[in-house]
Amino acid sequence: MKIVRRDWIFFAVALVVLGALFIGKGRLKSASVPYDEKHTRIYEDMNKGGDRAVIEKNCQVCHGPRSVPLSKGHPPKEQCLICHKLAQIIK
Ligand code: HEC
Ligand code: HEC
Repeated sequence: MKIVRRDWIFFAVALVVLGALFIGKGRLKSASVPYDEKHTRIYEDMNKGGDRAVIEKNCQVCHGPRSVPLSKGHPPKEQCLICHKLAQIIK
């Protein structure tokens, strides 16, 4: 395939878009799940190879309106562990 000028423009635009996405991600860096007594259950379950989707259901028990609420600007609430990585993996 011959590379014409239009292809280069397309490539440049794609690069800019990707770059913007990447920077945007970095700015919204989410805290990792602390490794403390409140969260050891999660670490244990994950290390046992538990199902992430099931484990995440437990987050809401504490991180709900009643105890440790999420800030108003918090992103959509499902799938906590995709954004909040475990601070350390213990075996
Ligand atoms: C037993 C109650 C409990 C459960 C269950 C729980 N948390 Fe927490 N979490 C807390 C408390 C209390 C704090 C604040 C004090 C601390 O750091 O332990 C906290 C703090 C955090 C923080 C740190 C916030 C910051 O500003 O640094 C993150 C991230 C977090 N939890 C994510 C999760 C996720 C994700 C889950 C589910 C996989 C979860 N938590 C389950 C009680 C809980
Ligand atoms: C789309 C990514 C994403 C998902 C999914 C997500 N979070 Fe967050 N979370 C963030 C970001 C980014 C912040 C930092 C927000 C800020 O600095 O304003 C944050 C902050 C927090 C904090 C600190 C307090 C606050 O609200 O600023 C806690 C606790 C927390 N998240 C828990 C959870 C729990 C529990 C879940 C699942 C029910 C969850 N998060 C799902 C991205 C996410």
